[in-house]
This record gives sequence, structure tokens and C-alpha cells, in this order.
Amino acid sequence: MGFAYKKVLLVGATSGIGLALADKLVQEGVHVIAVGRRKENLDAFVSKHGKDKASSHVFDITKISEISKFRDEVLAAHPDLDCLFLNSGIQRGMNFTRPEHINLDTFELELSTNYTSFIHLTVAFLPFFQKKQQPSSIIYTTSALAFVPIPHCANYCATKAALHHVILVLRQQMKDAGFNHLKIVELFPPAVQTELHDADKQPFIDNGREIGMPLADFVRDAWDGLEAGKEEIPVGGAKDAWSTWEQTRQASYQQAHQMMIGMMKDFYKS
Ligand SMILES: NC(=O)c1ccc[n+]([C@@H]2O[C@H](COP(=O)([O-])OP(=O)(O)OC[C@H]3O[C@@H](n4cnc5c(N)ncnc54)[C@H](OP(=O)(O)O)[C@@H]3O)[C@@H](O)[C@H]2O)c1
Ligand SMILES: *[C@@H]1O[C@H](CO)[C@@H](O)[C@H](O)[C@H]1NC(C)=O
Ligand SMILES: *[C@@H]1O[C@H](CO)[C@@H](O)[C@H](O)[C@H]1NC(C)=O
Repeated sequence: MGFAYKKVLLVGATSGIGLALADKLVQEGVHVIAVGRRKENLDAFVSKHGKDKASSHVFDITKISEISKFRDEVLAAHPDLDCLFLNSGIQRGMNFTRPEHINLDTFELELSTNYTSFIHLTVAFLPFFQKKQQPSSIIYTTSALAFVPIPHCANYCATKAALHHVILVLRQQMKDAGFNHLKIVELFPPAVQTELHDADKQPFIDNGREIGMPLADFVRDAWDGLEAGKEEIPVGGAKDAWSTWEQTRQASYQQAHQMMIGMMKDFYKS
């Protein structure tokens, strides 16, 4: 069927998974508006592909109060946007056995980067996508760690799990309300070789760039899912949990949903 969207706003497109998928999208004929804080990386992306295939917008998504201005600027320049891809993220360690070493400012930054800002961006862009007549999509990068946490980065895993729950509910609400042209997609990377685990960000990790699957392999598998129009795209190791007990979790969610929808008719109407 091919990737269904023509213009993607890709937040977190300056390195790693986001940059690699941005390159792939452009190769496949999709116009990409790349977003991140590093202007030099965004400029390099646009020069590499040319202005007809790529655009950019410097933005720090933790500046929550500027999100509506960011949205207005993007939509004024690109009224034909049909896909929002929220990929940015940071990962920091947290060891509760040494609470005096836990930096709560870092905690707040991780929370706002990985979770709070995504909710604000979702709420900011939803009215535009709901009104659109053509197929459109919001894609979220979460993680295999949305299913099962690992010891060193509790808060990171928690933000991904939180986002996963929100995405399940968002998708269902859009379906219930008949917004069938709007697809809510979740991409679950396993560990992938990117800057995410670099020593300047996570000094306690050795050889961070070697952790996980090669980026090119990740892009190939993620692309298969995106092109096939899947709503959930677990890649590599993320498939283990997804194909087994995550299905039980989602069956329970469907059960709860069916029960609640009967009880809460007014909530759904108001
Ligand atoms: N690599 C893995 O092992 C792995 C595993 C599972 C999930 N993931 C997820 O995959 C996504 C991409 O990670 P990656 O591995 O590709 O890491 P990465 O190379 O460090 O890329 C992170 C991206 O997020 C952007 N970003 C971070 N803070 C931002 C902010 N405040 N405002 C705007 N953009 C911001 C960065 O852009 P700027 O720095 O230019 O702002 C960069 O483009 C993340 O959501 C991560 O949680 C990664
Ligand atoms: C947390 O720190 C303790 C030492 O206080 C160490 O023994 C433990 O391995 C650390 N945990 C993680 C997950 O790094
Ligand atoms: C935020 O997301 C990034 C990328 O997915 C991840 O590396 C980081 O650990 C996350 N941080 C938190 C606190 O969840």
C-alpha cells in the first residue's frame, strides 16, 4: 500500500532514529519538516535533500508555553501537513540507592521531554488533524521499555509506559468518535545504536554507541511497519513482549473500555 502520507513534521530529526527515518522518508518521496534544537543539523538535512523535499524548524519541545506559536507557524507554512511524528527523547540514569545523587531537575527535564511535551503537542495539533478530510496520522516513538523497565533508568521507562497508555486511549477515543481518517501509530524501538547512550549524556555507560541493533537494520524493519500502515510497530527485541503478554494487556483494556463506554455515555458526549 505504501506510506500513506505526503508531508511529515518529524520532531527529533537531528540525530539517531529520527534523522535516519527522515532520510528514509525523503527517499520514499515524502516531504519532511525536520524539528530539533540543533540548527546546524537541521540546516545540513535541508541542504542534503534540497528545499523541495525538506524543510526545518528549530524548536525545543520543552518550551511548553511556545507550542501553540510553533504549531501556528508550522501550519501557516505547511497547510498540507498530514503526519505528525513525535520522536524526540532523552535518557538519564536514576539510582534510588543513592538518592542524594539523583538530580531532580534532570528528572523534570526527562519527564517534560519524553512525556509532558508530547501530550501538549498532541493536544495542540489534534484539532487540525481532526478537521482534515484526507488520511492523516500521528506517530509516536516509545520504546520496548514501555513494556518492561530496565534498572538504570526508571524514570525513562516510566515516561515511555505512560505514553503507551495514553496512546492506547487516544487511538480508541478517535475510533469511537468516528475520526477514521486519523491513524494513531506507535513505534517501539528496541535498543538501537544512536547518540542516546553517549557518555556525555550517560557517563556510567561504556561504549554506548555499540548498544543495540544497527540503525540501518532498525530503519528497514520500522519502515516495513510504517509502509504497511500498522498501528503498532514493535521492532527487534520489542516484539517479544508485544506478541505475547502485551496482547493480554490490550484485551483487558478492550474489556474495560467496553464496560466503561456503556457507563459513561455523557462523558463521551460532552
Ligand atoms: N536508541 C535506543 O536504544 C532507543 C530505544 C528505544 C526507544 N528510543 C527512542 O527513540 C527516540 C529517538 O532516540 P534516538 O535513540 O534516536 O536518540 P538521539 O540520537 O539522542 O536523538 C534524540 C532526538 O530527540 C531530539 N530532542 C531531544 N530533546 C529535544 C527537545 N527538548 N526539543 C526538540 N527535540 C529534542 C534531539 O534533537 P536536538 O538535540 O537537536 O534537540 C534528537 O533529534 C527517542 O524517543 C528514544 O526514547 C531509542
Ligand atoms: C546503584 O548504586 C549502587 C551503589 O550504591 C550499586 O550497587 C547498584 O548497582 C546501582 N544500581 C544500578 C542499576 O546502577
Ligand atoms: C526520554 O526518551 C528518550 C528517547 O526515547 C529516552 O532515551 C529517555 O530515557 C527518556 N527519558 C525518560 C525520563 O523517560
